[in-house]
Amino acid sequence: MSTSRVANAPVVTIDGPSGAGKGAVSAGVARRLGWHVLDSGAVYRAVAAAALDRAIAADDESGLTALCEDLDLVFEAAPAGISVRLNGSPVDDRLRQEEVSVMSSKVASIPAVRSALLDFQRSYRRLPGLVADGRDMGTVVFPDASCKVFLDASVEERANRRYKQLKDKGENVNFLRLFRDLEARDRRDRERTVSPTVPAEDAFVIDSTSMTLKTVIENVLAVVRQRV
Ligand code: DC
Repeated sequence: MSTSRVANAPVVTIDGPSGAGKGAVSAGVARRLGWHVLDSGAVYRAVAAAALDRAIAADDESGLTALCEDLDLVFEAAPAGISVRLNGSPVDDRLRQEEVSVMSSKVASIPAVRSALLDFQRSYRRLPGLVADGRDMGTVVFPDASCKVFLDASVEERANRRYKQLKDKGENVNFLRLFRDLEARDRRDRERTVSPTVPAEDAFVIDSTSMTLKTVIENVLAVVRQRV
């Protein structure tokens, strides 16, 4: 399989709100197609974690932009999927912490941060193809993608999934707090002026509220077969 960067390698974009299942669906679709995967949420989370580590404030636009331009972030294949290294150290658990989630949503609302991360994200466009997971993959980062999916689910269902995930990991979670945090993050992501979380005009919208992961993956693959 060639991994060279190719500007016209096919891209499938999977956008949608937090907890809609984009990560698992993207990984499943990429595995079935034998394509690469870009988790753009992890890119924003890495910027947030690095900012917290260096005490750069959420409103320090020039500090955050400099951080993006100097981001030492590597995604590598690991037994449990993809593992993320920031400045040489594994950061998978750190990126999922609540303080990083909250900070990532704030840094992601800054236009200069989003622009500074464009080339990095586009560098993942490689043969034989890329499955790109995020909020603005189909609208801004890969507007010429051959197949665009917008994956949605009710906020109750998304909060339930997240609650179960955290409980399974042995974490002590409060459902109501999690639900409210998710609603607040949704609002910030959907209502921001730059790259809001909205479906691209040519996106195929899938509501996964009452679907299994397997059914969603089959639905996405059916759209890919039609469009790619
Ligand atoms: O998908 P996620 O929860 O890992 O994303 C973390 C944050 O980054 C979330 O607040 C939305 C933001 N994000 C974004 O603005 N654009 C993307 N392409 C991906 C994520």
